[in-house]
Amino acid sequence: MTDPIDGDVVLDIAGLTVKVPEASRIDDAPGDLTLVHGVDLTIRRGERLALVGESGSGKSMTAKAVMRLDPTVRLGGSIRVQGTEIVGAPARRVRALRGATVSMVFQDPMTALNPVLTIGDQVAEPLVIRGVGRREARRRALEMLDRLGVPDAARRLSAYPSEFSGGMRQRVVMAAALVAQPALLIADEPTTALDVRVQEQVLDLIEEQSRELGLAVLLITHDLAIVAGLAHRVAVMYRGTIVENRPVDELFADPAHPYTRGLLASIPRIDGDPGVRLKTVDQFMAEARQEVLS
Ligand SMILES: Nc1ncnc2c1ncn2[C@@H]1O[C@H](COP(=O)(O)OP(=O)(O)OP(=O)(O)O)[C@@H](O)[C@H]1O
Ligand SMILES: [Mg+2]
Repeated sequence: MTDPIDGDVVLDIAGLTVKVPEASRIDDAPGDLTLVHGVDLTIRRGERLALVGESGSGKSMTAKAVMRLDPTVRLGGSIRVQGTEIVGAPARRVRALRGATVSMVFQDPMTALNPVLTIGDQVAEPLVIRGVGRREARRRALEMLDRLGVPDAARRLSAYPSEFSGGMRQRVVMAAALVAQPALLIADEPTTALDVRVQEQVLDLIEEQSRELGLAVLLITHDLAIVAGLAHRVAVMYRGTIVENRPVDELFADPAHPYTRGLLASIPRIDGDPGVRLKTVDQFMAEARQEVLS
């Protein structure tokens, strides 16, 4: 495999702004609200980028902008997926990319599945849409479910989502997202609700698909162990902007932005003194601000 850094650019975000118009603001404050300010991000073939940052910093807003999932916001700047411009494009062009070129997985697997379709039909659907025969689509759906450790997968193809546990549903969502070999996976906290073993299976599959098939990955997570284990690069978001975007080893070894330093300082260390209370990111930022002011 070629170095992912040398691969073709799959996702190219430049100067992205996401604005909530006054009328759509949930906080009823006056004026438009800009939640994402001039974000630049590039992800190449086979590259896995982790987007991290505190709650409310704009990570999900950025991820949703890529496939224009939130119709109430206004986008500015540019988002190119394999060269196709998304910002300002006709809706049908964006629809054509959804699920085929770009797959998206979110934290809540309940809403992502159709309750009246069988598991087998839902996992096979992205293939059937692309003209793969039903038998072959079913075979590949089964293979994905097996790969994700769904026990007795062959029999369960004809089950419905309501018969599955939350962890099992998220595996189904993941299988459907990856079965048709998309170019880009956008995963927003995909494993947060899963137990450790299922989490590992899901992350292994993502890693394998990007290594072997060149899947580009935008992964949003709060879990820095996942970042360290899976990502090539880390982009750190703080108040709607990217404050740091570097290879994962560099960032962990020598975080540049005070927020990143705070983030890393708040990880419990196995070799650390259990009697020492860890600083929260907020405490760290307050101290950093003090330093700047004094
Ligand atoms: N319609 C809206 N009106 C006002 N504020 C909004 C609106 N939609 C989103 N926001 C705010 O935008 C901010 C960014 O949200 P976003 O969901 O992108 O954060 P996040 O980084 O994904 O956080 P988390 O880690 O908690 O998922 C949040 O503070 C949210 O309250
Ligand atoms: Mg979010």
